[in-house]
Amino acid sequence: MKTIIEPFRIKSVEPIHMTSRETRERLIQEADLNLFALKSDDVIIDLLTDSGTGAMSSEQWAALMRGDESYAGSPSYQRFEAVVREVFGIKNVIPTHQGRAAEHLLFGAVGGAGKTVPGNTHFDTTRANVEASGAKAVDYCCAESLDTSSNSPFKGNMDIGRLRDCLAREGQNVPLVLVTVTNNAGGGQPVSLANLRAVRALCDEFGVPLFIDACRFAENAFLISKREDSEKGRPLEDIVHDMFRLADGCTMSAKKDGLANIGGFIAVRNGELARILRERLVVTEGFATYGGMAGRDLEAVAQGLREVLSPEYQEYRHASIQYVVERLAGIGIPVVQPAGGHAIFLDAARFLPQIPWNEFPGQALAIELYIEGGVRSCEIGSLMLAGVDPETGAEIPAERELVRLAIPRRTYTQSHMDYLLEVIEAVWLRREQIGGVEITSAPPVLRHFTGKYRRRQPAPRTAVS
Ligand code: F0G
Repeated sequence: MKTIIEPFRIKSVEPIHMTSRETRERLIQEADLNLFALKSDDVIIDLLTDSGTGAMSSEQWAALMRGDESYAGSPSYQRFEAVVREVFGIKNVIPTHQGRAAEHLLFGAVGGAGKTVPGNTHFDTTRANVEASGAKAVDYCCAESLDTSSNSPFKGNMDIGRLRDCLAREGQNVPLVLVTVTNNAGGGQPVSLANLRAVRALCDEFGVPLFIDACRFAENAFLISKREDSEKGRPLEDIVHDMFRLADGCTMSAKKDGLANIGGFIAVRNGELARILRERLVVTEGFATYGGMAGRDLEAVAQGLREVLSPEYQEYRHASIQYVVERLAGIGIPVVQPAGGHAIFLDAARFLPQIPWNEFPGQALAIELYIEGGVRSCEIGSLMLAGVDPETGAEIPAERELVRLAIPRRTYTQSHMDYLLEVIEAVWLRREQIGGVEITSAPPVLRHFTGKYRRRQPAPRTAVS
């Protein structure tokens, strides 16, 4: 059959609260134009994040009841540890309550002033944790990643030339290289196995450890199995083994490809580093056999890590994202191509060319998607990721101005995707009337979470094809 169906039946449903456009206009003003400040009951389709928002399976709900809440030595931890070792092939497993706690522990241990952490594109919390340690986070994503319309298959790849220059320049100050799979901030684009091998070879040459930010490891493996000639059709488990065999360790947010609502871990090969991390873990997260997680959550993640490698599940997930991306591209709406692993990324710089980067075209677009159809998305552009020039203190624009429509796992169906397409198209048709936004107040770090904004006057009309 050519129709790829949701490979599940629905046993429990959550009602969606419908709102009118007029109400949404009022609500977004009351939220100071920040979508994080909306109540989720006031959202019709919530694509703010794919993190912790997925539906658990009946087996995961059943596993919760097996959760053993012992402070030390819980069998739930043993099951969790065994699955992580089996899937990733890394021995020392340190549970944390979510991904950023893993990052905080890791960079607290290996970061520090004068250090540099190169990556393909650090996610916002990763960058914040690297920088909080006093180190510098630098991004060396491949050149193709900047062309949102190119159909290049592995736009998450590391730029090997620039990484080599960095390691040659400051190898002794690089505690590790971090490759994020898939590259979330860069459009959910995968990293090829060949690229990971090339990064590993450089790390060996310069004696630097390689870590993987594994949040979406299964989606990356699926896209390798579809797009990398030498890997086509291989079992996902084998591809995952090959990816992680190259790594000295990984950080993980189980809220993504753990198919759970909370959880995470660090896995490292080096026993001494594991000892240091566990010492820090007990101060901030919890004892070594639960980290910041309840026993029941350890069980849910252990089950989720197996389910996420189901080829039927991955086929369906990718098919619905690809469907939206191809339809949008077909009517000329600027969208990151090819389809990434977990989200649809609109290219706001091309959607709203009349809005300069420092009036945040991505935020302006996200606001309109909410007003139009109650769709909540997330700006991933200069509002979230602008840098600061260390010499002048001036703000530097992000590499791209994107709006991310992150698809929660196993949560929405095909008709939700059709509705989403309708909403985006309606905003597209009135794009010339949309103006930028300005910040009225924002904290210095991770400002997009709590910033307040107001609309600028709509920009003068420009010719839009
Ligand atoms: N690394 C990547 C690539 C991520 O996408 C995230 C979270 C984290 C680390 C941190 O994990 O949330 O469990 O602390 N990304 C979410 C998102 C928030 O919406 O993309 P966490």
